[in-house]
Amino acid sequence: MNALNGRVALVTGASRGIGAATARALAGAGAQVAVASRSGDNPGIEGAFAQQCDVRSLDSLTRMVAATVDRFGHLDILVVNAGVGAYGAYLELPEADLEEMIDVNVKGALYAVRAALPELLKSDAADIVTIASEAGRRGLPYEVAYSASKFAQVGMTRALDHELREQGVRCTSVCPGGVATDFAMGHGRTRDMPQLAGMMTPDDVADVVLFVVTRPRNHRLLEVNLRPVTETSWG
Ligand SMILES: NC(=O)c1ccc[n+]([C@@H]2O[C@H](COP(=O)([O-])OP(=O)(O)OC[C@H]3O[C@@H](n4cnc5c(N)ncnc54)[C@H](OP(=O)(O)O)[C@@H]3O)[C@@H](O)[C@H]2O)c1
Repeated sequence: MNALNGRVALVTGASRGIGAATARALAGAGAQVAVASRSGDNPGIEGAFAQQCDVRSLDSLTRMVAATVDRFGHLDILVVNAGVGAYGAYLELPEADLEEMIDVNVKGALYAVRAALPELLKSDAADIVTIASEAGRRGLPYEVAYSASKFAQVGMTRALDHELREQGVRCTSVCPGGVATDFAMGHGRTRDMPQLAGMMTPDDVADVVLFVVTRPRNHRLLEVNLRPVTETSWG
């Protein structure tokens, strides 16, 4: 499949998990791909451009976007994926975890769009895809700060849609339920928790992102909600 030939994608938080699977899927469809993370690791994608980038810093993201455009010439797709989670009774949530969720999930998402938008506006086929969460659609118990951060991402993405639609930039929130990754490990999830076996895989989410960005340009998906069959839809 070469549906993305000629398009350039930047995926934040792509050293592992959903971001790595998404970058792999986009590259497999012909996109040139830049992968950003604090480690700067390339998760084994041939031809990908990898650079260290901390989404808590607008400067770091601005450098990432500039380096991507230097390498590939332009930028068409931004996947706002870098994120952290910590679960537990709200009063027991360490302040450092609360701060990190706001800094990475909220400010990091806003900064990623701010850094990438000038380049996306030059593209005639631009997409912003935010990997939000079911926790961004419903307030979930023991996920107070995480839910707050994910509602912010969904709100950001919907507002961007209103602001950017007429300029040709499509904006989509992808809202998964549980996905088996390193996410929240030691912060509410454990490697031996039985629920992990019933969760979705990073490739399940990557397939959805690929579907979103390969729609014909006459329409757009505003929000995609996906759940493992083991999980309720919460009404
Ligand atoms: N797993 C789930 O159940 C689930 C469900 C719904 C939504 N999500 C969302 O999906 C996204 C990806 O999560 P995941 O499950 O793939 O988690 P993961 O396996 O822990 O991967 C997180 C990625 O984000 C990067 N990252 C973390 N902090 C960063 C920072 N400050 N700057 C740049 N990169 C950073 C990590 O790389 P470095 O450590 O190298 O920086 C890593 O590549 C998150 O937004 C999460 O909220 C996950």
